[in-house]
Amino acid sequence: MRNKKTVIVSNRLPVRVERRNDELHFIPSEGGLATGLGSIYQQEGNIWVGWPGFVPENEYEEAITREKLAELNLVPVFLTEDELQGYYEGFSNEVLWPIFHYRLSYAVYTTENWHTYQEVNRKFAAVVNQQSPSEKDEVWIHDYQLMLLPQLVREQHPDIAIGYFQHIPFPPDEVFRSIPWRDELIKGVLGADLVAFHTYNDSQHFLNACTHLLGLPIQNNSLHVDGRSVYAEVYPMGIDFEKFSALAASEAIRDRAKEIRNYYKDRKFILSIDRLDYSKGIIERLQAFESLLKEYPELREKVVLYMLVVPSRDTVPQYRLLRDEIDRAVGHINSIYGVNEWQPIAYYYNSFPVEELSALYVAADVCLVTPIRDGMNLVCKEYVASKEHTDGVLILSELAGASKELLEAIQVNPNSIDQIREALKTAIEMPMQEQRERMQDSIEIVKKFNVRHWVKIFFNRLHEIKTIQKQEMAR
Ligand code: F6P
Repeated sequence: MRNKKTVIVSNRLPVRVERRNDELHFIPSEGGLATGLGSIYQQEGNIWVGWPGFVPENEYEEAITREKLAELNLVPVFLTEDELQGYYEGFSNEVLWPIFHYRLSYAVYTTENWHTYQEVNRKFAAVVNQQSPSEKDEVWIHDYQLMLLPQLVREQHPDIAIGYFQHIPFPPDEVFRSIPWRDELIKGVLGADLVAFHTYNDSQHFLNACTHLLGLPIQNNSLHVDGRSVYAEVYPMGIDFEKFSALAASEAIRDRAKEIRNYYKDRKFILSIDRLDYSKGIIERLQAFESLLKEYPELREKVVLYMLVVPSRDTVPQYRLLRDEIDRAVGHINSIYGVNEWQPIAYYYNSFPVEELSALYVAADVCLVTPIRDGMNLVCKEYVASKEHTDGVLILSELAGASKELLEAIQVNPNSIDQIREALKTAIEMPMQEQRERMQDSIEIVKKFNVRHWVKIFFNRLHEIKTIQKQEMAR
């Protein structure tokens, strides 16, 4: 008898295809999801369905990609430039992303993009269905780009186990209500048996939206949908703790961290790492750093802000504008406060390999993570996991999902320039003993609730829910 099959689905595959000089390169992702689910999708019979990150130019490229990815248990969903524009840039990142991050004024509603989002979700469903899942299989769908997919799969497979995980926040129902197609979106998600979020607030917002918009009554944390109980629950995602802690302990990384520190002449090294995104609070962080230099002139030449911004979604207008704004803000601070021997900000718009990130985490006295809204935020957890043997202080936004777990970080309101400035001052002056005690508490949490634990408890619960549903049907 065939064993149970697990199908993972996300917008992007954990391997990205790139065309360089007419040759295709297959680049594995270092991302948290890829690591966490590695042990699952790489098992024989299981697969991961998603977009391979490029548009093939001809059938040959498509066939080669399909073949190469199949060796890795990956199944590509090919998208055209028009589909990417309407589904990814247009609907996912110009409607869902801003609304779910409470930026109502950034949303651009067009019926055409909504239609493309629907079509692409159907395209994903067709690929999932081609894998001929049976009723004993399980499908785990990830994130807001695929909100319609759970129901599309359910229609073909009424009894299959479907999980949906939303990695970004779910806003209060009155904010969610702004989207003209909100009812269709929730109905799509409710095709799943288990709908999961990083925080309790997000799960409650989702449940409230189901009640207020669709009139579904809530029983504890579950809803009754078409004769099925659907559960909305909280599973905060972790990272691969062992990987970051082992990298940080390795000689090569420690040497590189020393080199970085020497280069910056042992000044207090403040680290900031984000994908380019207006939800990350990058401008406010720069303003707070400027305010620190202004209010505490004695710190000039004694601190460096190392800011890495990883290119992202730069075909979406709001992201291009943000990039220009960051360029201007960094230029302004460096030109006003910089002197020959010292530039206050070292700014990079680039993506670095994980080894370099690890060296930066080891080198950093302070890690400044101040998103205006963030589903979870894994940078802060990577910093903590890199700090088993070196000191450091984490400053964390209270509006990041991770703030619910990392209670020993210095927590700030990311909109308050004054709070971030004062937190920086406190972090820079924090006695070693206090740094160690606080970091130790955070390390224990990040170590215990790692990404493998997250995957395990999610699947355990999904199986449990299927059992509960069967018992309910039998009654
Ligand atoms: O965490 C949210 C998320 O949108 C993920 O779905 C995605 O993998 C990541 O951010 C990067 O975004 P993008 O795929 O748009 O580059």
